[in-house]
Amino acid sequence: MKSYISISNLNKSFASNHVLSGVNLEIAGGDAIVIIGGSGTGKSVLIKTIAGLIEPDSGSIKIDGMEVNNISNTNYRNLTKKFGFLFQGGALFDSLTVWENIAFALVNNKLKTKAQAKEIAFDKLSKVGLSNNIGMLYPSELSGGMQKRVALARAISTEPEILFFDEPTTGLDPIMANVINDLIVRCSEELKATTITITHDMNSVKQIAKRVAMIHKGNIIWDGKIDNLFSSDNEFVDQFVHGNIAGPL
Ligand SMILES: Nc1ncnc2c1ncn2[C@@H]1O[C@H](COP(=O)(O)OP(=O)(O)OP(=O)(O)O)[C@@H](O)[C@H]1O
Ligand SMILES: [Mg+2]
Repeated sequence: MKSYISISNLNKSFASNHVLSGVNLEIAGGDAIVIIGGSGTGKSVLIKTIAGLIEPDSGSIKIDGMEVNNISNTNYRNLTKKFGFLFQGGALFDSLTVWENIAFALVNNKLKTKAQAKEIAFDKLSKVGLSNNIGMLYPSELSGGMQKRVALARAISTEPEILFFDEPTTGLDPIMANVINDLIVRCSEELKATTITITHDMNSVKQIAKRVAMIHKGNIIWDGKIDNLFSSDNEFVDQFVHGNIAGPL
């Protein structure tokens, strides 16, 4: 089966810091992959590079056969219409209201008129379980859990084919984290999207992942089905998933 996303020999350094050292990864259309790994191992850099937000030093990223690296601006703009991104920390625009945040990509990419985008924004708001009056507030007026819901509504506003979630549950209480995980699964299934999620939260991994890849020292050191994660026989994976203090990490 043809891969929807195909990454080969991807390298990225910042000065002498070699963050990605020849990453290879094939992600089939409709897959739900979760990337795990210690803090600072390059998870955010990896998905930002896949999304074309960071330029790699070398290597190839193909999405539906189209090379993301060295792409023309016009083609990149067309490609990003397929993407939804929930950034680590939420990263909503402070100066825009909630509905304007959700509508941003629709208006900015001239996909919809402002009136249409507003209607879609309120529809997405209800999809993530928030009422209409929340749409008129500013991000600073929301709790952390509500901000994550808005960030999710913004990520799905264009009904993307590929969804990137970077630490969607960090900083949330366990119940709100479950609500967000459940919303991620439901929204992704509804869109039949391919999802790439980064998380430290093992409950998130269990809820969201069909497949898991672990990154360590710039490479994918384990890649397998979620059912095999807890019996991987890989000492790095075992230490990480059980949170053991002793081990190779
Ligand atoms: N724009 C940048 N300029 C310089 N160095 C960067 C940049 N972005 C990331 N790095 C470095 O790359 C390394 C990997 O960062 P990254 O954000 O990908 O880690 P991470 O695995 O997502 O960690 P965390 O789990 O803490 O979010 C770090 O050493 C970081 O300092
Ligand atoms: Mg990160």
